Amino acid sequence: MKRVETGEKLKTLARLLREHQPAFALTGAGVSTESGIPDFRSRGEGLWERYDPAEVCSVEALHRDPARFWRFNLRWWRGCREAQPNAAHRALAALERAGLLRGVITQNIDGLHRAAGSTVWEVHGHLRTCRCMRCDRRHDFACLLEQIDDGADVPRCPCGGMLRPDVVLFGDAMGEDYWRATQVLTGCQVLLVVGSSLQVYPVAGLPRLARRLAIVNREPTPYDEEAAVVIHRAAGETLRSLLAELEMEDAGP
Ligand code: APR
Repeated sequence: MKRVETGEKLKTLARLLREHQPAFALTGAGVSTESGIPDFRSRGEGLWERYDPAEVCSVEALHRDPARFWRFNLRWWRGCREAQPNAAHRALAALERAGLLRGVITQNIDGLHRAAGSTVWEVHGHLRTCRCMRCDRRHDFACLLEQIDDGADVPRCPCGGMLRPDVVLFGDAMGEDYWRATQVLTGCQVLLVVGSSLQVYPVAGLPRLARRLAIVNREPTPYDEEAAVVIHRAAGETLRSLLAELEMEDAGP
């Protein structure tokens, strides 16, 4: 029953994308778990199931104990920088090349949609650069990693100021890409949500800007009731099947 049901839902999703444009994707950490990066709220496995984000990933935590902040976050941020795009990232980039998506609005900082070739709005920032909290100068994130690898507890700018990541931490204002995303979504006919619990505002309010909603997520979300189609399955296999349903070439694992 489940497989037949999913087949019907994929036909609906394919039809939505063919008949209603412009369409965008909105992704969260669940699109990158198949690249080996943990998400935040998967029952029993997510990072915030084990740690309090206010304690380890907030502006306040960075100021209170910068050495602990960097020790904790670099453990998974290094993984983000070393990970590779998976089938879901590749399929979304293929949908864009086929003219069925305008691009991807992502909450992820891992850069994997960019690496897969999508047009991306990184509403929670990225791990390519960092900036000085004293003189605001920007540096490659690699320079920061070099300092840590050379034994520094807290990475610093040549001016002596502490460096901070160019990601949106808890307690930060939203970045420019978030405001650009709200603009591009005006008039959006279909928003395809992939791998997000849709629990963290203001991004969790973006689905309200779209005329129609489609959700591919392993677990239920607060928007399931109002979505035109909801598929509670893994992103990689589901998006590869969507490409097949659209008679598009497989974009690979
Ligand atoms: N395929 C489909 N869905 C998946 C997969 C997968 N392979 N792996 C996980 N999921 C689902 C989980 O069931 C979960 O509902 O993806 C969702 C991920 O939700 P979260 O962990 O809450 O991640 P996200 O929605 O991106 O969180 C938003 O919260 O902590 C902040 O800044 C952080 O950007 C993050 C924001």
